[in-house]
Amino acid sequence: MGKKLKVGVVGVRGIARTHFPGWVESPDAEMVAFADIDTKILKQRGKEQGITLLYDNAQELFRNPEIDIVDICTPNGVHAPLAIAALNAGKHVICEKPLAPTPAEIRSMIKARDKSGKMLMTAQHFRFQESAQALKAALGTGAVGNIYHARSWMLRRSGAPTSPGFVSKKESGGGPCIDIGVHILDLTLWMMGHPKPVAVSGVTQAKLAKKPGAFSDWGGPIPKFWDVEEFAAAMVRFANGATLVLEVSWLLNHKTEGEDMQMWVYGEQGGVHWPSNELLVTDNKLKQHRNTQLLSREKGEPHALECMAFAKAVAERRPSPVPAEQSLDVITILDGLYRSAAAGKEVSLM
Ligand SMILES: NC(=O)c1ccc[n+]([C@@H]2O[C@H](COP(=O)([O-])OP(=O)(O)OC[C@H]3O[C@@H](n4cnc5c(N)ncnc54)[C@H](O)[C@@H]3O)[C@@H](O)[C@H]2O)c1
Repeated sequence: MGKKLKVGVVGVRGIARTHFPGWVESPDAEMVAFADIDTKILKQRGKEQGITLLYDNAQELFRNPEIDIVDICTPNGVHAPLAIAALNAGKHVICEKPLAPTPAEIRSMIKARDKSGKMLMTAQHFRFQESAQALKAALGTGAVGNIYHARSWMLRRSGAPTSPGFVSKKESGGGPCIDIGVHILDLTLWMMGHPKPVAVSGVTQAKLAKKPGAFSDWGGPIPKFWDVEEFAAAMVRFANGATLVLEVSWLLNHKTEGEDMQMWVYGEQGGVHWPSNELLVTDNKLKQHRNTQLLSREKGEPHALECMAFAKAVAERRPSPVPAEQSLDVITILDGLYRSAAAGKEVSLM
């Protein structure tokens, strides 16, 4: 094996901590530098992780010729400018979800990727859970036949973050659609085999967050600067005739401990449910309905696994494990959902 790829992590406060173990465990990469505009957290994380190459300006990290991979873990609003600058500096980029909050930004990132010839991947960690991989493998064998409908949701009763990076549209780009909608939508489109989305009809609501005394079990009082949706629902149409019904919420009078995240994918021969990983098959010859439990055993923590998969793909010159084009479809649907909600009618995504 050649020398290990050198990784610089940008934005080291929150989610970055789930990436560190992946870089430490990876046989293909090693973490050598951090950048953050908050020098206190920068120094703290440097001390915790034994990293001495610390930058309070990400551009300086990008200028370091030793760095091969940039891992972007900053708030959504700066994903695109940072990723484009890193790609232009000749770095491979893994970037937290959403790749960017708007389709236009993702298109610019794809352009920069193509110009640089480097790899760009969105950190969609749910794809790296063993349960999701087992389901994807079953669907890949044609276990449910032609897929014509899916339902997915990610609902919290009282699980809204309250920092501006999530609930100020200027910084986050949107509410639960952009925060958690990208997770369940990405997973569902991946299971469906990425049919081309052509139209969406959506609604958004901000009702509970606007009530006097509104609070979130995850973040305390709802702040005054909150200007995003708390709930959204959509019906998506695809070019192959398939459809998807999607619901996401941070605040909803729905019975769940923490979070209710589920997906059904329906085909002409069977259906699958995640995360229970049940396969339901209809056998017309035997006049039987059969339910099978797909086995899966978690191989590790999915955020760490996604970093390791990225480094391996770079090292082996294989395609990006989560291509930016697939994230463009996710954000095109969510952007359409917002446009449809504002217009009060279905909108075209073509
Ligand atoms: N995959 C997941 O499950 C998951 C969970 C939470 C957050 N996220 C994503 O991770 C990203 C970060 O979220 P978080 O909760 O870790 O936020 P955070 O606020 O805890 O951390 C972000 C860090 O980025 C730094 N930063 C901001 N602008 C910067 C810049 N221009 N250059 C360098 N550093 C900068 C901040 O100072 C901060 O330390 C978001 O895109 C979010 O959607 C993903």
